[in-house]
Amino acid sequence: MNLQQYLQTRAQMVNGSLEQIIPDEKQYPAVIHEAMKYSLFAGGKRLRPILCLAGAEAINKEIEPILPVACALEMIHTYSLIHDDLPAMDDDDYRRGKLTNHKVFGEGMAVLAGDALLTYAFEILADYGLKHNCYREALQVIKETAAAAGTLGMIGGQVVDIISEGKSVEKDILEYIHSHKTGALFSVSLRAGALIYQAEPAQLAALKKYADNFGLAFQITDDLLDVLGDAEKLGKPTGSDSKNGKNTYPALYGIEKSRQVAEEAVEQAVSSLQILPGNTQPLKMLAEYLLTREY
Ligand code: IPE
Ligand code: IPE
Ligand code: MG
Ligand code: MG
Ligand code: MG
Repeated sequence: MNLQQYLQTRAQMVNGSLEQIIPDEKQYPAVIHEAMKYSLFAGGKRLRPILCLAGAEAINKEIEPILPVACALEMIHTYSLIHDDLPAMDDDDYRRGKLTNHKVFGEGMAVLAGDALLTYAFEILADYGLKHNCYREALQVIKETAAAAGTLGMIGGQVVDIISEGKSVEKDILEYIHSHKTGALFSVSLRAGALIYQAEPAQLAALKKYADNFGLAFQITDDLLDVLGDAEKLGKPTGSDSKNGKNTYPALYGIEKSRQVAEEAVEQAVSSLQILPGNTQPLKMLAEYLLTREY
């Protein structure tokens, strides 16, 4: 299966599961459920849930049983995008090829739709543990997911991203921003399935190393696409980073050096797969895709 087919099939699987899980949009008060669904089904790539499933595949486990866990990660990611686009943050009007949540539902409802997706994700994870009698494993996933989304993870990265606007920061601060605002959620996405399946520590460590490098390469290519990409294909505006005076890899290192760091990170990600016992071909393909992606 080539990459395009693989991404499409997996995204369909995730979408089917999300449809089943998410509250009906007619449920009172309908507007919040509509707002949640609007962004969730606006057409994201579903990379975090796909990586969660691929992590399980890489340790020889079934993917279907962990679909709800994968979906919870996508809900947290979608919440982060809704808030990231708000006027108080990056102030962007388009996301996933559609008007941003606050442009359609208003700022108050967009804040609440983000909050609701975040909260609902944890309900889904707790429910998973109860339904599958895997309390300990589910609690570990809940703890790691909360930490990855919190002030020592994604929120921490978003905070430093904001307080560094308009200033030029040192290399280590830029690394902090990228590894936290983006890397942390990728990291827990790869570990989540493996934690449910009680993977060995060495396997979890290998998945984390893959994820950290994947996250870095992913955010560098996101930064590069903000400069070089096509807004139509991306489904979001280009030039957002320079508009906001963001610290990015291309701003600090230039285009060529940024590409080189991304290539090295992809190499590192791929090399960490060696010790894994299952099918690691999808993870290899996903890492390599980062270097050529256009959206
Ligand atoms: C965009 O993530 C936000 C970043 C962390 C850079 P994606 O590029 O994965 O966005 P979607 O989910 O496909 O819309
Ligand atoms: C967003 O980074 C990271 C999170 C949402 C946590 P960006 O601000 O670079 O993402 P885009 O470019 O708007 O998708
Ligand atoms: Mg941002
Ligand atoms: Mg943004
Ligand atoms: Mg960006």
